[in-house]
Amino acid sequence: MRDFSPLLTAQDIEDKVAALAERISTDYKDKDLVLVGVLKGAFIFLADLVRKLTIPVTIDFVWCSSYGQGEASSGNVDRIAGIRTDIAGKHVLIVEDILDTGITIRELLVYLESFTPESIKVCAFIDKYERRGIDVKADYAGHRVEKGFLVGYGLDYAEKYRHLPAIYELKT
Ligand code: IMP
Ligand code: MG
Repeated sequence: MRDFSPLLTAQDIEDKVAALAERISTDYKDKDLVLVGVLKGAFIFLADLVRKLTIPVTIDFVWCSSYGQGEASSGNVDRIAGIRTDIAGKHVLIVEDILDTGITIRELLVYLESFTPESIKVCAFIDKYERRGIDVKADYAGHRVEKGFLVGYGLDYAEKYRHLPAIYELKT
């Protein structure tokens, strides 16, 4: 059994999601906003976030994976499924569980930009910045950490622990 060290409680998470929702609701007031959740990891965060927004939005998903079974990104992003919404001329906010190297988001930005949206920004619940090799940033971040492998609240290790309501760092 691996050692779990608590990072954010369910209450911490709720407070941070509420703060993000308030900012997003203000920034996108009277704008046509499409949230694009990155599956699988973002499903819980996106579900919590939209219920705290005070503006109307539409929701779509892309399905990406770069990790396989391990703790280090493979460096290749598999996009298994794309968006179905017409985002041309609309404001897009990518909703991610965690931004790490930035490779996934960079790929997604190229993909989504090809549909000529009015704007694209990134909202990541966790901004893990130590391994960021490329120029990609989280316009909205719930919590910043330097490093560590995190699980819970959508984040998995080999498909386990996504269901945990709090976030833990997995110790080796
Ligand atoms: P990036 O492409 O390196 O930015 O990695 C982004 C993706 O890697 C995220 O969407 C997660 O699925 C996964 N990932 C990165 N760090 C972690 C972590 O600490 N725990 C679980 N998944 C992670
Ligand atoms: Mg993910």
